[in-house]
Amino acid sequence: MNHLSADKLLFATHNPAKVSELSRLVSPSKKIVSLADLNYKDEIPETGDTLEENALQKAQTIFKRFKIPCFSDDSGLFIEALNGEPGVHSAHYSGKRDYRINNQLVLEKLAGITNRKAYFKTIFCLIEADEKTTYFEGIVNGSIAEESTGENGFGYDPIFIPEGHTKTFGELSASVKKALSHRARATEKLIQYLGAKE
Ligand code: IMP
Repeated sequence: MNHLSADKLLFATHNPAKVSELSRLVSPSKKIVSLADLNYKDEIPETGDTLEENALQKAQTIFKRFKIPCFSDDSGLFIEALNGEPGVHSAHYSGKRDYRINNQLVLEKLAGITNRKAYFKTIFCLIEADEKTTYFEGIVNGSIAEESTGENGFGYDPIFIPEGHTKTFGELSASVKKALSHRARATEKLIQYLGAKE
């Protein structure tokens, strides 16, 4: 059992960049607590077939352990011509957690295909003290470039061109990506919900 007070919200992720991004965005009356703050180092299972299943699994694992309100996130890239692949398998599409190899695999699979439509999606799953579970979705539409360009960001950024732009997320500045990314949109919804509850 844990004795953290109700103004604290636990983020079920081991990614420190995600924790600091969220901490800056929530109202000062809510404090984001990280797993590192609680010295929790175990790997969090994510064996679902969808982003929603994975997000739920992660949030439930952490809620069961600490018994305080918590949320998790799960994201992926969905490509229309590849029937939604890599989707929930985005992190290790080629079998390896290597961004360069995964990008190359996508470009190879799309060789000669004119339909380049794709979108990034993030799902947040929030579990409140009474175990009420709520999902928040963020999507950014776009297309897959013909080749990998740009060094900014991570993952599939060098091959993803957001709608309304001609450059990839790998070429666009961090501030442009932050303004329109799937994660930013899901974050906005989560924060609105939390704000409305205060
Ligand atoms: P996660 O659930 O946020 O860890 O994302 C899973 C995988 O989706 C990452 O390892 C990346 O391959 C891909 N991904 C998610 N968000 C982004 C993004 O903003 N840019 C590029 N790739 C992303």
